[in-house]
Parts: sequence; structure tokens; C-alpha cells
Amino acid sequence: MHWVINMSPISLINGFLLILSLRTGLHTIGVADAVTLSSTGSSVSFDSISYFISPYSSGTLSLEGLDLSTCVSVRGLYPVTLLSDAKAESNFSVVMETFRAVDDVFQAGFMQIIYAPNASVFEDDDIASYGVKTTRTLDESAAVPQGPYFMSASTGDVYMAYRLYSDFGGSFTEAVFATPEGSFTALSAAIEGSASLTIGVPSRLYYTASAEQPLAGVRVGIKDIYDIAGVKTGNGNRAFYNLYPPAAANSVVVQKLVDAGAIIVGKQKTSQFANGQMATADWVDYHSPFNARGDGYQDPSSSSSGAGSSMGTYPWLDIAVGSDTGGSIRGPSQLQGLFGNRPTHDAVELTGVMPLSPILDTAGFLTRDPKLWATAQEVLYGPLPAYDAYPSRILTYDFPTNASSAASGLALDFLAKLQSFLSANVSFMNLTSQWTSSGPANTTSSLTSLLNVTYAIIVSKQQTRLVRDPFYADYAAVHDGRRPFIDPSPLVRWTYADSQPDSALDEALYNKTLFMDWFNSNVLVPDPVTCSNAFMIYFTGTGMSNARNQYPRPPTVPFGFSSGRISVFAEVPDSVFPIGQAPYFSNITQHEEYLPVAVDILAAKGCDAIIAKLANDLVAAGILNVTQAGQTIYGGDVLHKREVDEQ
Ligand SMILES: *[C@@H]1O[C@H](CO)[C@@H](O)[C@H](O)[C@H]1NC(C)=O
Ligand SMILES: *[C@@H]1O[C@H](CO)[C@@H](O)[C@H](O)[C@H]1NC(C)=O
Ligand SMILES: *[C@@H]1O[C@H](CO)[C@@H](O)[C@H](O)[C@H]1NC(C)=O
Ligand SMILES: *[C@@H]1O[C@H](CO)[C@@H](O)[C@H](O)[C@H]1NC(C)=O
Ligand SMILES: *[C@@H]1O[C@H](CO)[C@@H](O)[C@H](O)[C@H]1NC(C)=O
Ligand SMILES: *[C@@H]1O[C@H](CO)[C@@H](O)[C@H](O)[C@H]1NC(C)=O
Ligand SMILES: *[C@@H]1O[C@H](CO)[C@@H](O)[C@H](O)[C@H]1NC(C)=O
Ligand SMILES: *[C@@H]1O[C@H](CO)[C@@H](O)[C@H](O)[C@H]1NC(C)=O
Ligand SMILES: *[C@@H]1O[C@H](CO)[C@@H](O)[C@H](O)[C@H]1NC(C)=O
Ligand SMILES: *[C@@H]1O[C@H](CO)[C@@H](O)[C@H](O)[C@H]1NC(C)=O
Repeated sequence: MHWVINMSPISLINGFLLILSLRTGLHTIGVADAVTLSSTGSSVSFDSISYFISPYSSGTLSLEGLDLSTCVSVRGLYPVTLLSDAKAESNFSVVMETFRAVDDVFQAGFMQIIYAPNASVFEDDDIASYGVKTTRTLDESAAVPQGPYFMSASTGDVYMAYRLYSDFGGSFTEAVFATPEGSFTALSAAIEGSASLTIGVPSRLYYTASAEQPLAGVRVGIKDIYDIAGVKTGNGNRAFYNLYPPAAANSVVVQKLVDAGAIIVGKQKTSQFANGQMATADWVDYHSPFNARGDGYQDPSSSSSGAGSSMGTYPWLDIAVGSDTGGSIRGPSQLQGLFGNRPTHDAVELTGVMPLSPILDTAGFLTRDPKLWATAQEVLYGPLPAYDAYPSRILTYDFPTNASSAASGLALDFLAKLQSFLSANVSFMNLTSQWTSSGPANTTSSLTSLLNVTYAIIVSKQQTRLVRDPFYADYAAVHDGRRPFIDPSPLVRWTYADSQPDSALDEALYNKTLFMDWFNSNVLVPDPVTCSNAFMIYFTGTGMSNARNQYPRPPTVPFGFSSGRISVFAEVPDSVFPIGQAPYFSNITQHEEYLPVAVDILAAKGCDAIIAKLANDLVAAGILNVTQAGQTIYGGDVLHKREVDEQ
């Protein structure tokens, strides 16, 4: 057997981890076949912080006259800082303190070598006090963004620095980073951690938000039902992940985010095929992600479980993309103290996304910061029309009437402030009696009988046809007619679909449309001045414990009609606002802990932007807070992460 070594231009970066992949010509023994060898990057420990060094050069710097004799390096790579934007009046210490404040990747060690357009503008004293060993002129032609890099002393190539973090909350399925070709590849790094992936985030200093790229440098996690070019899509099923090749192209949602400058850092866990699953018994193929709030052993909700878990746990992650068919963004947002939106149906094309039901599926965000939330929504759904005035009516539904619990008290307090902020009238909405009095004349059925089985029929009938049947066929073809393993929750729904006639789907669509048309012309109605005639509000994240160390009933078919189904059928936007947190006694910690409390706000179809704007205006008015990652919505160590004090 003969091998020919074919090295690509990036193959020989000194000291990088080299992957040797050998392809041998089995049929033509003795005839050479191509062997490829390429770097997948490397990782280093630098002043106790772990970094991944990209295998792709960002540009080449001049090494002429550079004195590296006192600088630290590893395998010919030197930490350097590029001050590409430094002006004549730049104050070195101000620039460095700003870098440290805004970026978790930058650290003092990178200051040993400074490249700046004109390094002589800096005061020697300033430079010396920061441990700078050498400075060098940065040629404008280098066109490399500012920030920390690792530089090759043999070629002058600079490589991006990624800080490495442990996914100790089990939120991710795969860590990725972008290739220069616009595709993505697995991150080849691992740091200390117990059954945890390692995620890499690039320096924030490389990116500057602009009108064209409003999400430049924003770190995003993607639910593993969205295609990412070069990465396999798993849908929460191990057999599915392995059966199919990596996606050839980005889903439309991912492409829009990438075009807006977002940084995709990894794929995140979904309950299987985006069907609801309770922690942890329902999660057979993968372990349910952890909810950092309270005692740390609460159900994170599903199906955008990794998205909610990651946003509640990691301060280094900015936003996560989930999907909501029947509550899959709203549930995790409510339980983890996040802003989360189920958008207007059809707000964005779902090409390249696994369907649960194209009739009901939506793509939205989970995040702690409503400002970023509004920007991201504009990128995905925009351009969205702006309105100067808010609706002056609030409709309450499933809302507390008294402060019988701390959470109810928070909800009533929020409602009073919202009412005052909007100078609005609040009315109690009885959907049932309104339907009876103003529903379609030819309908005699109650809302509950009209809509009790509608959701279950639509999702199960559509997913079996669109996902299960082709998957089973493809799997059987390469496994001698076998079936793949399916978690109990999707299985019980798919089995239900098989028990129902195909005509049930048409009937379900008819019922859904009947409700939608009535709701959108009688309850939340478009308005030319305020977009929506009213805001509707319901109470959701109730601050109640739903621990993951329970043995609940087996999964059931999702029958029933409740507040969370209104937006699903009516196609209107429905967003979660975290309004505070309530104490509970944890049987696990034997201690009082806090869990998030939330409300959901709805508006007429297409009025997504006024909900996001409302969230920002309420933060500005001190009525809502930006939330934090950690044990509580105001921050704090995740409990199981605390270490004993070193003596
Ligand atoms: C730079 O800023 C620091 C802190 O604000 C100040 O102490 C120092 O004098 C400034 N240096 C120059 C050269 O202006
Ligand atoms: C660099 O900065 C120094 C000090 O401000 C100035 O005297 C010099 O002219 C500058 N050189 C260039 C090439 O701009
Ligand atoms: C307070 O509200 C709860 C449910 O929200 C209800 O069960 C209870 O009867 C109410 N109490 C009073 C005094 O109205
Ligand atoms: C609010 O209610 C009051 C009293 O019922 C009524 O006079 C007023 O017109 C209402 N305002 C709005 C905006 O509906
Ligand atoms: C809504 O109205 C119906 C009568 O149409 C009544 O039976 C029901 O109790 C009302 N619901 C609430 C929450 O008041
Ligand atoms: C009920 O009325 C609507 C419009 O008024 C009509 O489109 C629909 O076919 C009717 N449904 C039945 C079951 O008669
Ligand atoms: C909803 O449908 C299921 C299945 O047919 C049935 O068991 C349940 O009783 C129904 N619930 C209501 C409120 O009609
Ligand atoms: C549709 O609504 C009727 C009542 O009008 C109900 O009996 C039937 O179960 C519903 N079917 C579906 C699939 O939603
Ligand atoms: C704690 O345990 C008690 C007794 O088993 C139970 O009644 C209660 O619901 C539990 N509370 C929580 C928050 O799990
Ligand atoms: C906002 O945060 C402050 C503490 O930082 C807290 O006192 C206040 O209650 C919070 N408000 C809300 C609505 O969460």
C-alpha cells in the first residue's frame, strides 16, 4: 500500500495539532491514492486561561526588527495585540482598560507585543506599566481587525484567539467555529470538565456592529434542528445524527444571522424531534440540560432546552435560537428567567429546519437582554414597521386576581405598572364566553371541544409524514430493515397519529383556521396606529418547583386547550417577559431558593416589534430588568460549581 502526502497550504502551521486522514486505494493495490493532512487548530493554556488557536490565518504581519527575545511563546506562536484602530491621540491605558472591560478573551499577557499604526503615539511610561516588551508598526495593508492574536514567528501569520469554556450545564451537542469558506467545523479542543463539551468564543474586539452587521460579534447557540453548513443535524436523536451527512448549506435562519455578523458557537440540545419531554425520564437518547436557577435541579422545560439552559447558565453566551411549535421557546424562557419570543407565524422562512408542523412552527430567540432581542428580531423578521403609540388596552387571561403567593403578587404588581406605563384600561378576558357570544354563527361547539385534539393531530400527522417516514425508510435501508430508537415522547405522539384517519388533519386545520379568523378579528385586531388594538397578558412562569429528580407519568399525547395554545393557532406573536423571582423551599438543598416568575405578552399578528420595544421601554422605566446568568436572575454562582476555599 502506498500513500501520497498532499499538504494543503495551512497544513504546516508549526506546532499545531495535525490530523492525518488516510485514504487507501483498495481496488488498485500498489497505486498511490491521495492522503490529506491538515491542521484543525490547537489549544493552549495562557496564564491559567485556556485558548483555542484558529488554524486559519487572519493576515500576515511584518516581523522585521521585532525583538522577541523576552516574549513568551509556545511552539513558535506568540501572543500579540493589534491596535488597528489606534489614533494619534490614543491613550494606551484607556485602550487596554476598555479591552479588558468589554472582552473576556483579551488578557494582560497579550500586551507583550503591540502592533499599532503608529506605536510612537503611546507614552513610554504607560506602555512599561502594562508589561509591553516590544511594539511594532502595523501596516495598514495588513487589514486585520484589532484584538488579541497568536502570531507565528516564522511566517508573521496571526491566528484568532478563542477563549474556551466548559459546557457544564450540558446545553450543547457540538461546538463549532467558522471556516474561511463560510462553512463550519467542529472545535478540536477540550478543557477540564466532567462529561462536558468545550465551547470556544472569539474575542469580541474583532467585531464592530454596523448598520449592515448589527449582530457583529454576537455569540449565538443554535438548536440542533437548524442546518448549519458543514455540521450534522441531529434533531435530538443519535441514529438520525449518524445516518445523514453534514448539512450542505445553512438554514435560512442561520444564514441571516451569519450575514448580520453573528458568531455561531455551537449546536444545542433539543428534546427529541422537538417534541416536549420532561426531565429526566423522557430523555433517553441524551441527558436533559440543566436549569441553573434555584437549586439547579429543576426541569429546564423543552423543546429548546439547550437554548434555555445555556442562556440561564453562561454569561459568555449572548443569545440562543430556539423554535416554538407549542411552547418550545416560551417554556424554557419562563423557567429560566429569559426574554423569549414565539414570533408571528411565517415571520421567517424555515427552509433547512426540521419540521414538527410547518403550519405551526416558528423560529425565535431566548436571551437575557431585550435590546439584543429586538435587534435580532429585526434581523430575522425585518424590516419591521415602527409605531409611535402603544395600544391602550390590556386584556388579562389566566391571570391572578389576588396576591395569594409571592409570584401572584409580582404578577399583579407588574400589571399595575404596565397599566400605568401605557395609561391603559385593563379588562379581564373570558375567551370561552366571548367565543360563545361572538363565535362563528354556524359553530355550536365550545372552544375546548373545537381545539382539544387539534394540536395533537396537526403535529403528529405532519411530523410522521415529513420526518418519521423518510427517516425510518433511510435507516431501514442501511440497517437490514431495522427501526431506529425513538424516545418515548415522540413515539407516543407518532403512534397516536397512526391511530387517526388522514382526514383528521384536514379537520384540525379547519378548526384551527376557524379559531384564528375569529380571534384575529375579534380579540387581538390589527390597528393602523398602534399595530394591535390591545396587548394580551397571561401568567406563566409561576415560580413553582418542578424538580428533575421525580418519576412522573409516562409521556402522553398533548391534548387540551390553554393560554399557551392561543398564539399557536392564531399565528400571533407571544413573548415571555421575566418579571422577578419568587422564593421556595428546596427539598434538595433544604434551603430557601428562588425561581423566575414570568408573564407572556401577546399582540396582533405581525406586531412582534411593539412587544420587543415594550420590553426595552419597560427596562428603561425600571419596571423590568435585564437578567443575569447564574443561580438567580440577578446572578450568583450556579450551586454545584462552588469550590471550597483554598486554605
Ligand atoms: C491616560 O489615561 C490615564 C487614565 O485615565 C491617565 O492617568 C494618563 O495620564 C493618560 N495618559 C496620557 C498620556 O494622557
Ligand atoms: C507617529 O507619532 C509620533 C508622535 O505622535 C509623531 O511624531 C510621528 O510623526 C508619527 N509618525 C507617523 C508616521 O505618523
Ligand atoms: C386568590 O386567587 C386564587 C387563585 O389565583 C384563588 O384560588 C383564591 O380563591 C383567591 N382568593 C381570594 C380571597 O380571592
Ligand atoms: C377606559 O375606561 C374608561 C371608563 O370605563 C373610559 O371612559 C375610557 O374611555 C377608557 N379608555 C380607553 C382607552 O379605552
Ligand atoms: C367564563 O365564562 C363562562 C360562562 O360563559 C363561565 O362558566 C366561566 O366560569 C368564566 N371563566 C372565568 C375564568 O371566569
Ligand atoms: C361556517 O361559516 C363559514 C363562513 O361563515 C364557512 O366558511 C364555513 O364553511 C361554515 N362551516 C360549516 C361547517 O358550515
Ligand atoms: C380531549 O381529547 C381526549 C382524547 O380524545 C380525551 O380523552 C379528553 O377527555 C378530551 N378532553 C376534553 C376536555 O374534551
Ligand atoms: C374539530 O372541532 C370539532 C367540534 O367542532 C371537534 O368535534 C373535533 O374533534 C375537532 N377536530 C380536530 C381534529 O380538531
Ligand atoms: C418537598 O417535599 C414535600 C414532602 O415530600 C412535598 O410535599 C413538597 O411538594 C416538596 N416540595 C417541593 C418544592 O418539591
Ligand atoms: C431589578 O433589579 C433590582 C436589583 O438589581 C431589584 O431590586 C428590582 O426589584 C428588580 N426589578 C425587577 C422588576 O426585577
